[in-house]
Amino acid sequence: MFITFEGPDGSGKSTQVPLLVDFLRAQGYQVFQTREPGGTPIGDQVRAVLHDLRNAEMHPHTEILLYAASRAQLVAQEIRPRLAAGEIVVCDRYADSTLAYQGYGHGLDLATLRLILDFATGRLVPDLTLLLDISAEDGLQRRQHAAQHGEEWNRMDAQSLAFHQRVREGYDRLMAADPARWVRLSGAGNRSAIQADIRAAVHERLPPRT
Ligand code: TYD
Repeated sequence: MFITFEGPDGSGKSTQVPLLVDFLRAQGYQVFQTREPGGTPIGDQVRAVLHDLRNAEMHPHTEILLYAASRAQLVAQEIRPRLAAGEIVVCDRYADSTLAYQGYGHGLDLATLRLILDFATGRLVPDLTLLLDISAEDGLQRRQHAAQHGEEWNRMDAQSLAFHQRVREGYDRLMAADPARWVRLSGAGNRSAIQADIRAAVHERLPPRT
């Protein structure tokens, strides 16, 4: 089973993903946890280029191809082999982030993006995508607060509020186009309540234990 997490910056995915992974492992499942961009030695090098605030002149097409490069490596090196071995793969962001951020956020052609995504992933689509939903304003505020307390403030965080609003609307459209794959959960509220919602959504769809 291939589970992905999506949501605006600051939606709390990085807190919630490890909690879900711990829970699934405690249930006896083999789980592989990963994230994008990154997740492989090559992907982590690409991530550093993408996040570097000195790379402000990066062209949007360069950005897409770098995300796609990181993802192609992750799918080939980790995700496909793990799924083939019967593991549950939980990934913090995947192809939908490219459609939301580069497509809806930057206004790049969605049909072209889909071609690039299909090439990078070999058309591997998640079985379940959890959208942690939070307003663009709240998300940015959380990120700013975290950055003041030592967390990374990256090139995407530094985009305008209007950009983050377009990203959030993009998620709404992606979800509307494929409602069977997506579950929307509120990312506002307390951490354990959100985790309980996530577990319930995943539990319904879990495969039998191997
Ligand atoms: P990250 O630090 O992983 O943030 P988060 O915890 O919000 O996932 O940074 C990833 C950033 O990259 C985030 O702003 C979303 C962006 N992104 C894209 O724009 N396109 C993509 O395809 C992916 C995977 C991420």
